[in-house]
Amino acid sequence: MTAAQNELKPVLVFDSGIGGLTVLREARVLMPERGFIYIADDAGFPYGSWEEEALKKRIIGLFAELLAEHHPEVCIIACNTAFTLVGADLRAAFPQMTFVGTVPAIKPAAERTRSGLVSVLATPGTVKRAYTRDLIQSFAQQCHVRLVGSENLARIAEAYIRGDAVSDEAVLSEIDQCFVEKDGSKTDIVVLACTHYPFMANVFRRLAPWPVDWLDPAEAIARRARSLVPQAADGVHPDNFDLAVFTSGNPDFATRRLMQGFGLKA
Ligand code: DGL
Repeated sequence: MTAAQNELKPVLVFDSGIGGLTVLREARVLMPERGFIYIADDAGFPYGSWEEEALKKRIIGLFAELLAEHHPEVCIIACNTAFTLVGADLRAAFPQMTFVGTVPAIKPAAERTRSGLVSVLATPGTVKRAYTRDLIQSFAQQCHVRLVGSENLARIAEAYIRGDAVSDEAVLSEIDQCFVEKDGSKTDIVVLACTHYPFMANVFRRLAPWPVDWLDPAEAIARRARSLVPQAADGVHPDNFDLAVFTSGNPDFATRRLMQGFGLKA
């Protein structure tokens, strides 16, 4: 390394599982000069049905360790279920760190819908958050918003991403409530409000009773992160590889292989 080159701090991307990879792949395109550390709290997965106070405590505790160990430039919380619960607490607990959040894309959906019928497909946790209700109240009062809390889809998506067989019936029974017909109009936008779901967008498209726009916020999150991470022309990524950390300490073979496919050392 020459004297003119600085070692750049990495970008940390956090999710309960492997759904945050949908955000990581976009973030990498926009920040090629940075190293990435992907954290999957697989020991706590799925977050969707956790009791709120216990989950809050867990995530704040994890971040105390993660920040001390990895010294990131910025943390992307690539998990709606986590950020809608604990985003404000993370910022209060670690004021020196920049957190980029992931929240249901209700505002852009409300701006784009023609029929006025929008559905939000998310975990049960995200659906019941005050944060989600506030987004609807603030940005989508003119719309009919159907919140669909799926118990199983994050798990199904994990299986699908790892290459396991997933039945059409199982997927359809999780998404069919998103399709609403009212006074001659039909749902035209479904917000993918869990970072696991964009991996299954092709399956959703194939099974949908009619075509809708499946809104994936990953690129917008990556753009937000890029705007907060200083551009450093002479900077280098110090280790030359990106890292995936699993809180279980023990990802299975299929998961390790998946990480390799994403260029991450697990
Ligand atoms: N990927 C997470 C999200 O965006 C949630 C998955 C889970 O732990 O249930 O909400």
